[in-house]
Amino acid sequence: MPPSPILSLKNVTKQFHSPGGQMTAVLQGISLAVESQQTVSISGESGSGKSTLLHLIGGLDSPFSGSIFWKEKQITGLSIDQLAALRQNFMGFIFQSSNLIPELTALENILFPVRIAHKNLSHYRSKAMDLLHHLHIPKQAKQIPEKLSGGERQRVAIARALILDPELVVADEPTGNLDEKNATAAIELLLKLCREFHSSLIFVTHNVSFARKMQQSLTLKSGSLHVA
Ligand SMILES: Nc1ncnc2c1ncn2[C@@H]1O[C@H](COP(=O)(O)OP(=O)(O)OP(=O)(O)O)[C@@H](O)[C@H]1O
Ligand SMILES: [Mg+2]
Repeated sequence: MPPSPILSLKNVTKQFHSPGGQMTAVLQGISLAVESQQTVSISGESGSGKSTLLHLIGGLDSPFSGSIFWKEKQITGLSIDQLAALRQNFMGFIFQSSNLIPELTALENILFPVRIAHKNLSHYRSKAMDLLHHLHIPKQAKQIPEKLSGGERQRVAIARALILDPELVVADEPTGNLDEKNATAAIELLLKLCREFHSSLIFVTHNVSFARKMQQSLTLKSGSLHVA
């Protein structure tokens, strides 16, 4: 029997209340399967629902209808605590806005998932420093987010998502704030680490050349996913 997908969505829909009070459908019957170690890009116009879709995939919001599976486990209907416990060992999420904890340094932010998971901090501290080196910001290790540039914050968020070797990395435009050189370096590192750790990657981007680096390129349009 073939292995089951690492992530699957079946007929997922999402609607939001618009300011006038009526419901607007953002996602209409999305079905998607991502295999182990597969890399997938999702593109689409601003407002097409990419972040909405990633939030559903990450269990950060609930669909209106349909089901979402992390491996064989259906996550729709689980409590926030159940989701958090499952996510810890499964997924690294990179938000469109980096969402770092303002009081913690870059290094402490990267190590935050390690603390939550009660894993060995000293082991992961050297891994966190390696990631900071690879992302060209080792000198910023002790800086708090407020004192980092937008691009540096985004690189810290990338390192934080990778620190626990997740099976699936979900990245929402992680290079939107980076210049071309650093964006390319960050993508190459993300792909290299995903290969090394055998992680799957779902990557939202507006950049066509970055999308082409993924094994499958999808576009979100009118609430549906299409092969690009
Ligand atoms: N919590 C919410 N309540 C109401 N409407 C929302 C909510 N979140 C998103 N929307 C709407 O859903 C649509 C899709 O938003 P989303 O953030 O998913 O787009 P996106 O494709 O990620 O855009 P961008 O490329 O600009 O990041 C937009 O019209 C947005 O206004
Ligand atoms: Mg978005």
